[in-house]
Amino acid sequence: MSKYKIAYLPGDGVGVEVLEAAKIVLDKAGFDAEYIHGDIGWEFWCKEGDAFPERTVELLKNVDAALFGAITSKPVKAAQAELVPELQGKGLVYRSPIVRMRQMFDLYTCLRPCKGYKGNSLNFKENIDLVIFRENTEGMYSGVEFNPVPDELIELLSKISKPFAHFKGIPGDQFAISCKINTRKGSERIIRKAFEFAKQFNRKKVTVVHKSNVVRATDGLFLEIAKEVAKEYPDIKMDDANIDAITMWLLKNPFNYDVLVAPNLFGDIISDLCAQMVGGLGFGCSGNIGDKLAVFEPTHGSAPKYVGMYKVNPIATVLSAKMMLEWLGEKEKAAVIENATAKVIEEGKVKTYDMGGISTTIEMAKAIADKI
Ligand code: IPM
Ligand code: MG
Repeated sequence: MSKYKIAYLPGDGVGVEVLEAAKIVLDKAGFDAEYIHGDIGWEFWCKEGDAFPERTVELLKNVDAALFGAITSKPVKAAQAELVPELQGKGLVYRSPIVRMRQMFDLYTCLRPCKGYKGNSLNFKENIDLVIFRENTEGMYSGVEFNPVPDELIELLSKISKPFAHFKGIPGDQFAISCKINTRKGSERIIRKAFEFAKQFNRKKVTVVHKSNVVRATDGLFLEIAKEVAKEYPDIKMDDANIDAITMWLLKNPFNYDVLVAPNLFGDIISDLCAQMVGGLGFGCSGNIGDKLAVFEPTHGSAPKYVGMYKVNPIATVLSAKMMLEWLGEKEKAAVIENATAKVIEEGKVKTYDMGGISTTIEMAKAIADKI
């Protein structure tokens, strides 16, 4: 019997290709796992009206961790048009399976390390080493949305709030509402994870990202809690920055930052920015981590235009697999994979198209595996 049970969720597009590549590397590192395939993605939306079928939910309840590729997402109306005829007109609404998975399994930490490996010509600057903690279940992704807005809600808002001037008398089908819900629990646990990480890995500073000067209720709460939690970690410096300003400062001087913690949408934004600073989405790895389950995935999407070409860079997924090993406590194997990846990058002989080369996804995976 294998030591671990791993859900293998390739999803759509290049998700299939990058997972295949990561598995080559995991096998070479001697990771002792049984991989169980799970259906997820666009195909199952079209055929079954559910991109994240119940059987896959069940599978995730019975594994040690999961590797996830990528999913194609489309706006609600475009998604409905692609359902098989029998499912048309049933009012099915497409929701991103990965967002659902994060919420359903309470994978509240989205951990996105952005480290520039030596010799990568795509590095924005040498030696960037940022770690992002993104809140992964609530905030702008809470899923409480209205379009059209029901009359009860319009009435309530008119009574208890003072919306902008042209709100008065506006019919419900002429506007939409997406609620940003931040709880004390949700904020506190992600902030604590960021500080705990800083403590464990001897990081000097945690920067809290927000927009509390304008979005005062939710981001104000986030910042307030961060200040409370920071008191428990006197050896770690805490500072904070508005989301708009930090995008500029991160580019101006990435070395002023270390660990960053942010509510959901802001974390989504800065993780793309930071991934670009260390080579682009081909290098952006991530883990969706809860107390019981964790799902590891590259930050990039399904890249439909490259499907079947085996040309995308698998390093993001290989590094996500390495994070999975760390989470499972297989620290030595994780280090072996990271070192092998770093060597291939530094040698610069095998490069995928984004790195200016012509090597395929599988050639890159094999090059990394050869260094193990
Ligand atoms: C990410 C992605 C997802 C997100 C999409 C695919 C729903 O951008 O993991 O960063 O917005 O969280
Ligand atoms: Mg994103």
